[in-house]
Amino acid sequence: MRILVSGGWGFLARGLVLPLEVAGHAVRRFDVQEGDRTGDFIRGDVARLDDVRSAVKGCDALIVAHMAPRSPDAYATPEICFDINVRGTANLFFAAHEHGIRRAVLISSTATISGYPKPWRHDLPGDRPAGLYGLTKACQEQIARFAADSYGMAVAALRIGYVVDADRMRDKYGREVGERNEMDCDRRDVGEVARRWLEGDWRGFEIFPVMSTHEAMDSCDLRHTCQWLNWEPRYDFDRLPTPDPAKAAARRSAKSERTPS
Ligand SMILES: NC(=O)c1ccc[n+]([C@@H]2O[C@H](COP(=O)([O-])OP(=O)(O)OC[C@H]3O[C@@H](n4cnc5c(N)ncnc54)[C@H](O)[C@@H]3O)[C@@H](O)[C@H]2O)c1
Repeated sequence: MRILVSGGWGFLARGLVLPLEVAGHAVRRFDVQEGDRTGDFIRGDVARLDDVRSAVKGCDALIVAHMAPRSPDAYATPEICFDINVRGTANLFFAAHEHGIRRAVLISSTATISGYPKPWRHDLPGDRPAGLYGLTKACQEQIARFAADSYGMAVAALRIGYVVDADRMRDKYGREVGERNEMDCDRRDVGEVARRWLEGDWRGFEIFPVMSTHEAMDSCDLRHTCQWLNWEPRYDFDRLPTPDPAKAAARRSAKSERTPS
């Protein structure tokens, strides 16, 4: 398959593509930034339908993995984040449908359900989002569901936790991660789940929690993903120490004040 990955030079995408490439799939990156310009890359803006139409040509599958920039300005008002995250996602699914693409993965987030108490079931409707970021992710899930219902596409929404490079134990901002978080997940585990969905003969719309820790099996219903896709996380975070419960609670409450991950 030739797989279009929006936000292809982003932190998540750079690791997510590895299991796809190892399995022999061709990856086309689509991004506003140039990255290292290697391989099959199309520069463009997801918010511009013409750019997106050019990007999908010749592709067989879609992975939506872009997001509005990390600057706080992008999430201070709905303008930028809705343009990129929501309009961009609608453009991608629309152009993919026009082009006859039948399989897709949306990179979603647990930010769509953070208002629900744990344990989280995989099929929570995604209607209790955190902040404008979570709201854009909830809208993305609705667009993905619409693409399954109206365009007949097979679409998986991967509700991923906190992405950490398990080799370097660093997050997307380069911050060192010194303690376990049940929602830690490695980019290659996310890519492997995406691969299993895209290679399978699935129909409709499904939601999959994706983390790499054994705690998430029950607390985030990761078991559902493992059973459905016959998968298990490869990159655990067991060597990190468990956090002090009081410090973890304080951090959670500070994080809920912040914008996106
Ligand atoms: N990093 C995490 O911990 C985390 C957690 C949960 C969900 N996610 C999700 O993972 C996905 C990727 O996030 P990330 O952490 O890799 O972010 P990132 O900022 O590293 O990557 C996003 C990419 O999107 C590109 N992009 C931005 N605007 C664009 C536009 N208009 N057109 C085309 N491309 C554009 C950027 O240039 C960048 O390469 C997002 O959907 C995010 O919601 C990430």
